[in-house]
Amino acid sequence: MSEKRVLLIVGGGIAAYKALELTRLLRKAGVAVRPILTKAGAEFVTPLSLSALAEDKVYSELFSLTDEAEMGHIELSRSADLIVVAPATADLMAKAATGRADDLASTTLLATDTPILMAPAMNVRMWEHPATKRNLAQLKADGVAFVGPDEGAMACGEYGEGRLAEPLVIFEAVMGMLSGGRPLAGKRALVTAGPTVEAIDPVRLLTNRSSGKQGYAIARSLAQLGAEVTLVSGPTGLPAPAGVKRVDVESARDMLAACQSALPADVAVFVAAVADWRPDEAFGIKLKKGKDGPPALHLVENPDILATLAASGPQRPTLVVGFAAETNDVEDHARAKLARKGCDWIIANDVSQPGVMGGEENAVLLISKTDTERWERASKDAVARQIADRIAKALS
Ligand code: CTP
Repeated sequence: MSEKRVLLIVGGGIAAYKALELTRLLRKAGVAVRPILTKAGAEFVTPLSLSALAEDKVYSELFSLTDEAEMGHIELSRSADLIVVAPATADLMAKAATGRADDLASTTLLATDTPILMAPAMNVRMWEHPATKRNLAQLKADGVAFVGPDEGAMACGEYGEGRLAEPLVIFEAVMGMLSGGRPLAGKRALVTAGPTVEAIDPVRLLTNRSSGKQGYAIARSLAQLGAEVTLVSGPTGLPAPAGVKRVDVESARDMLAACQSALPADVAVFVAAVADWRPDEAFGIKLKKGKDGPPALHLVENPDILATLAASGPQRPTLVVGFAAETNDVEDHARAKLARKGCDWIIANDVSQPGVMGGEENAVLLISKTDTERWERASKDAVARQIADRIAKALS
């Protein structure tokens, strides 16, 4: 990212302080940040803080003799790969939606053909006002990308939608746009990950060794390409990737219910290592050792989440992707699974290779109804990015 340049417009709102953290994250990733601070923005953060973190001059005035001589506003708007507006206030959105140009920020937004990402932040009533809704729809129609806002408690004491997205989430969206756009913007994705756990009694469980790493990496990569991602996860101890909605579950039956609630989705990727069986009854109290010896556990089969969603009629995601961990005859087993489960692709991983199970790398085959591709062994993150790119191509 060392040659990428962001023009960061900081609007006037209490959330402007988060623009400082965003600037720090971008600089740390090697992205050059050139800030424009609006007059209202300067009421909340100082030009000195912004300039120190950006390691660049802060631009504020439309008719500044020195600024125009050094870099006119037209040149300023062309000097970046991406324009980020954070926080994007109701006023900035209104100006951009109607093409007004009465200060440096709005003039720059009108004078550019560079992609624009806005991170709105305002009071919930302002966000829900029909005027803001109209401006949002117009800006989207004009090709402006959005990240957030979030729902939560506001500085004004109210609760609702309108909080600025967290700096890390805006950062991920910026990185996604800088590295080739957001082809999955407007698409919904469902990803399952991790193990499931099946209770024997209140303290004992049946589970497996899945780390969840591959599923989390896929959820993250899909979000970076702009998808709205729901990650249904068994217990993993991994942090939720930025910008991803995580739903925590334990048993296979809970995972199925959470997946069904997450529909509709354009793509569903089933990475979870679902327990095949569960005890037919979970004891309500802890089993005690006794003279009769160990209890006999009677197991029943769990629902197949992938097969159920692949056969869900009008609710079926456009693209259904399964995983298959195999140790031998990988392609044959995976192709049989593709047919049995009714999915569109199977990503088969060869877990007989050292360092794959629980490790950082993966060696996969992508199997579709008509084709088999053998991918180079790579890190789980790289495999996730490749899968997300293929999904974006398939859905475009
Ligand atoms: N899967 C699922 N629900 C289950 C079992 C598996 O959604 N109850 C999904 C997994 O997330 C994966 C795919 O089905 O995407 C294949 O999982 P795998 O464990 O390899 O297949 P099984 O059907 O369990 O077959 P086997 O263990 O006999 O190889």
